[in-house]
Amino acid sequence: MFRQLIIAVALSAMFTADAIALAPRRIRPKLHRNDAVWSQGCLIEKYYKQRLDHFHFQRDVPEQPSFQQRYFVCEKYWSNGPGGVRGPIFFYAGNEANVELYVNATGLIWENAQAFGALIIFVEHRYYGKTQPFGPDSWQVDPSYLTVEQALADYATLLWHLKADSPGGGAADSPVIAFGGSYGGMLSAWMRVKYPHVIAGAVAASAPVAAFPGVPGWRPQRFWEIVTYDATAAAGSAPECVTNVRLAFGYLRQLSRFAAGRASLSALLRLCSPLEDEAQALAAAYWLQGAFDAFAMGNYPFSSSYISDNPDHPLPAWPMRAACTHMVVGRATKPSNLIEALRDAAGVLYNVTGDVQCYDLETSGPAAGNQGPWDYQWCTELMGQELPYYPTTGVTDMFWDQGPFNLSVIEAHCREAWGVTPRPDWSAIAYGGLDYRYASNIVFSNGGYDPWSAFGVLSNVSDSVVAISIPEGAHHLDLMYSTPSDPPSVVAARQQEMALVRSWIAQHRATRHSSRGGESASSDVLSSGSTSTGSSSS
Ligand SMILES: *[C@@H]1O[C@H](CO)[C@@H](O)[C@H](O)[C@H]1NC(C)=O
Ligand SMILES: *[C@@H]1O[C@H](CO)[C@@H](O)[C@H](O)[C@H]1NC(C)=O
Ligand SMILES: *[C@@H]1O[C@H](CO)[C@@H](O)[C@H](O)[C@H]1NC(C)=O
Ligand SMILES: *[C@@H]1O[C@H](CO)[C@@H](O)[C@H](O)[C@H]1NC(C)=O
Repeated sequence: MFRQLIIAVALSAMFTADAIALAPRRIRPKLHRNDAVWSQGCLIEKYYKQRLDHFHFQRDVPEQPSFQQRYFVCEKYWSNGPGGVRGPIFFYAGNEANVELYVNATGLIWENAQAFGALIIFVEHRYYGKTQPFGPDSWQVDPSYLTVEQALADYATLLWHLKADSPGGGAADSPVIAFGGSYGGMLSAWMRVKYPHVIAGAVAASAPVAAFPGVPGWRPQRFWEIVTYDATAAAGSAPECVTNVRLAFGYLRQLSRFAAGRASLSALLRLCSPLEDEAQALAAAYWLQGAFDAFAMGNYPFSSSYISDNPDHPLPAWPMRAACTHMVVGRATKPSNLIEALRDAAGVLYNVTGDVQCYDLETSGPAAGNQGPWDYQWCTELMGQELPYYPTTGVTDMFWDQGPFNLSVIEAHCREAWGVTPRPDWSAIAYGGLDYRYASNIVFSNGGYDPWSAFGVLSNVSDSVVAISIPEGAHHLDLMYSTPSDPPSVVAARQQEMALVRSWIAQHRATRHSSRGGESASSDVLSSGSTSTGSSSS
C-alpha cells in the first residue's frame, strides 16, 4: 500500500502500493492548509532515542543499539480540563513515507484538536523519511529491523516514555487515540490490539488489514474490480469508459505481440523510446494500469496533489471521471483511436504538468518499482503491493487477463532482491486478519471508491469495533481536511468517528481509578509534578 509517488518516478517506475496503494499520497487541498499548520508555529520537530531491536538483546555490548526516531508535537491545543485533568493525546501512527506528508494531510486531527484539547503527535515510521537507523537509505544497509512488530513496539515505547516523562507527569493519564490511514490505519488498529493499555482507541481509515494471502477468502482481484467500479456510470464516470478501456487494453496486448504492432504502439503512446520486445510492451500496459489505480485511490471530490505529488499541479477533482472523459469514443472507432484515448486518460496523471513531450518508460516494468523499504515489507510480511501482483481477469475488471495470483513469482523476486521468502500467513496469525471479535475501541472506515476497501473491515464487529462506510469516499478521504465539496457520507463518517473517540476518552477517564489500585486518582495527583517518572505508569 504504499510508497511515496513522485511524478518523475511514476514515469519511469511501477507504482507500489502506497506509491499507489498503501502509499500515502500527499494531498494538498486548494486552501493550502498545510501552510496554516506549519505557520501557526506549534509544530516542533523532535527525535527520540529508540531501541533498534525490541525483541533481542545483543550480547557483550555496553548499550543496546539505538537510532533517532523523528516525531512532531503540537502542544498548543492541549488543555487543562476541570480539576487540571489534561486532554487526550492524538497520535498519528506514521506509515511508509516522510511523516510530514501525514502532518500535512491529516485534517481530521487538526480540525478536532482544539475541541478535544488534545496534544498532537505524529511519529515517523522507521526506515522512512528522516527516521533512518543506519543513515540515508537505511534499507540498503540492513533492512532486517523493518517489520510491523518493530514499528508497533517503537510507537508503544515512545508513547510510554512521552507520558511517563512528561513535565509534571501531566500526560501520565491522558488517553491516547491512534489515527492512521492505509498502512497507518493498519498500524493504529494493531496498536490497539497489541498495546491496549497504551492506546485507548483507534481510528483506522482505509486500513486493508486483510490484504494478505493467508487471510481466508483473500481474493486480490477484488482490488481491480473496485478500480473498475470507479470508471462506471454508477460512480459518475462516462458510461462507455469501462468497455472502452477494456477494448483498448485488448488491442494494446494484441499489438504487443509483433514488431510492427509494437512500433505503432510506441508512436500511439508517445513513448520516448520504442518498445523493443513484448516484455517492454507488457511493462507499458502495467504503467497505464497504474494510472487507473491512482485515479481510484485518489478519487477525491476536490482537486488534490496527494496523488500527483506536485503541489503546483494537483490532479483534478474526481480524477477517474476526468480520465474517463478521454475514453468517450464512438463504437466504430479504430483500435488506434482507443489506444490514444487510453494514453490521454493516463496523461491525467503522467502529464499532470501538461509539459511532458514524450513518456519515458525506460526503467519501468513490473519489477522497476519493486525496490526500497516498501518492497522489503512486501517481501517479508507481504504488506500490500497491488501492481503488478494482484491479478486481473479482463472480465470482472477493465484490464486484461493476468492469470492467477502467483506466489512463486513473488518468492523468486524476493529471494533475488533481498534473499528472503515472504510469510503469507504471518499477518493473519499475528493480528487476526478480519477477526476483530476480541478487540475493542476501533473504528474502521472504508470508501466505496477506494480499491483498498477490498481488504477492510466492512461490517460491524461489536459495539466497540465499528465499521463505517463512505460510499463516495476514496482512500482515507475522512482523514483529509473537510471541504465544501465533501459528500454527506464523509461528513457523517467524521462525526461518527469523533463521537466514538469522545466515548473512548470518557471510558478511559471513568476507569482510571481502578487502574491505580485504589489510590485516589484526583487530578491533583496528575498535575502535581510528584509522579513524573516510572510511578506515573503504575
Ligand atoms: C508539507 O507542507 C509544507 C508547507 O506547505 C511544505 O513545505 C512541505 O513540502 C510539505 N511536505 C510534504 C511531505 O508534503
Ligand atoms: C501533455 O499535455 C500537453 C498539454 O495538453 C500536450 O500538448 C502534450 O502533447 C501532452 N504530452 C503527451 C506525451 O501526450
Ligand atoms: C507461476 O509462475 C511460474 C513461473 O512463471 C509458472 O511456472 C507457474 O506455472 C505459475 N503458476 C500459476 C499458478 O500460474
Ligand atoms: C455500524 O454501526 C453503526 C452504529 O454504531 C452504524 O452507523 C453503521 O452504519 C454500521 N456499519 C455498517 C457497515 O453497517
